[in-house]
Amino acid sequence: MCGIVGYIGKSQAAPILLDGLAKLEYRGYDSAGIAVFDGEDIQVKKATGRLKVLSELTHDGTTMPGTIGIGHTRWATHGAPSDVNAHPHYNKERTIAVVHNGIIENYVKLRTRLQEKGYTFVSETDTEVLAHLLDYYYTGDPIETITKVMHRVEGSYALGIIFKEHPGTVYAVRKDSPLIVGKGKDGNFIASDVPAVLKYTREVFFIQNEEIAALTEETITFFNIDGEEIQKESSMIEWDINAAEKGGYEHFMLKEMYEQPKTVRDTIAPRIKDGKIVIEELGMSDEEIRAIKRIHIVACGSAYHTGVTAKYVMEDMARIPVEVDVASEFRYRNPILEEGALVIIISQSGETADSLAALREAKERGVKTLGIVNVVGSSIAREADSVMYTWAGPEIAVATTKAYSAQLVAEYLLAMKFAQVRGMVTEEEIEGMLRDLQRLPEQIEMLLNNKEKIQRFANRYIAAKDVFFVGRGIDYAISMEGSLKLKEISYIHSEAYAAGELKHGTISLIEDGTLVAAVVTQEDLYKKTISNIVELKSRGAFVLAVTNTGHTEIEKSADYVIYIPQTNKYFTNSLAIIPLQLFGYYVAVGKGCDVDKPRNLAKSVTVE
Ligand code: F6R
Repeated sequence: MCGIVGYIGKSQAAPILLDGLAKLEYRGYDSAGIAVFDGEDIQVKKATGRLKVLSELTHDGTTMPGTIGIGHTRWATHGAPSDVNAHPHYNKERTIAVVHNGIIENYVKLRTRLQEKGYTFVSETDTEVLAHLLDYYYTGDPIETITKVMHRVEGSYALGIIFKEHPGTVYAVRKDSPLIVGKGKDGNFIASDVPAVLKYTREVFFIQNEEIAALTEETITFFNIDGEEIQKESSMIEWDINAAEKGGYEHFMLKEMYEQPKTVRDTIAPRIKDGKIVIEELGMSDEEIRAIKRIHIVACGSAYHTGVTAKYVMEDMARIPVEVDVASEFRYRNPILEEGALVIIISQSGETADSLAALREAKERGVKTLGIVNVVGSSIAREADSVMYTWAGPEIAVATTKAYSAQLVAEYLLAMKFAQVRGMVTEEEIEGMLRDLQRLPEQIEMLLNNKEKIQRFANRYIAAKDVFFVGRGIDYAISMEGSLKLKEISYIHSEAYAAGELKHGTISLIEDGTLVAAVVTQEDLYKKTISNIVELKSRGAFVLAVTNTGHTEIEKSADYVIYIPQTNKYFTNSLAIIPLQLFGYYVAVGKGCDVDKPRNLAKSVTVE
């Protein structure tokens, strides 16, 4: 979703802005633009399409002089992707320029009022309202002006603003959309996300809701919505810039798939101490854990899919009823949240608008909330009562892989902890599970190293029209993610079905040669799914089976088999998903798709 960068310092701003925007490309966008104060005026350049169009237009920024500026990659919401709708937007005299991430919900009303006062609009965006509103309220004092605008707008926003009359300062403000400030040696930065500034600094401030930052070349000052100065602590970013670079891999997605053994290890390791599961950050006593009556897991997309796995695992292992909801449904369905409920919000970015809204809904109703979040300091991490971090590091590819794997193991650990405290598993069972859990990284590595087999298979399916994924129980949850991975990056239509549901309609879609990936890792459901495979085969399907090592008899029913190493029945998702990720990846590569930045998708969905 939209990316914001701003710079003020000793160096030429435009190349730095373009470089920062390139680091935010993963968020998804369809146009880009920059505004730079050249010493006399604010110059603006915008271009539809990839950032390289804007880079070519400005000769990598070198043709735009000036050491203060703001930049933006736009993911269209209000108005089609076009030069005129691209940000920055500005007032008529071009004395104020603004870039925006988020949605101004009352923009129609504001636009009508401004039009009545003689303002003319050139774009279809909600953002242009901000440029004119800043002009309308301009008092000569930017902070006063910004706070007036903040009081008038409804919705979510992260803004970068420059004023021609205040050429020594970049202003930034946020509400419900991410924005950080980077403190550099020879200048200061604003950005939607840390990778955009990491080349220049590791010292960042996380701007909180309704806070304003004013950056000069040497100083950074923060204000609240009343315009009063406030003090903020900076944080040092621990991870390396290499973590946000491709490091020799063809795509971020492939690199991130290869980081999964480390991600899984890093997420598990700090929570096992002397052979015991210790989740200090949970902030719940054993008594409180025993008092949990129901768990509500809320998330979007792949994070939701890990939640579906967690439901099967937690209910079976800890015997706690678990409901899983897609966040956009949960927030509007007036959920029944009774005393003793625990709401778990799962999110890689920690900024997904629907998940954040669901969290707030749960908090408003007074139930305990836990965030399983990857981005440190993100909104969900800050607002949840407690937060369990997945230590996946920055995930750049739009299609999640390593954060998904980290979420899974965090959820297994939670289930084990709950089961143990509630007396649902013996010490020996926990020891066995911990052994299996700690073996996952090397087993994932083994599966990744077998990628050529999947690649060869995937190459046969680059022209496929439909692909189905089926499974039962945890295998159904794996199928959902396998299907999403394929469709989101290869644009091949794909659906996941609970294998037992096939007969109730879906099987009519099967034709001669239709590819069906059947996930068969649950021993107690093995025979049932094999029957479904046989039914599919007799309708002409070509069946790819993913099953546990040792189940060679499946070769009698399926056409192509991929074996995963033996592990505990609860953890098979962590292994079975690897060949499915690789399959989606290689089909997309074979089709020549933009794997890391699939069309229409954004990494961090910060609008509803
Ligand atoms: C798919 C994918 C998305 C995200 C979803 C939630 O590969 O990445 O489905 O899982 O948009 O995002 P987060 O986890 O940031 O809340």
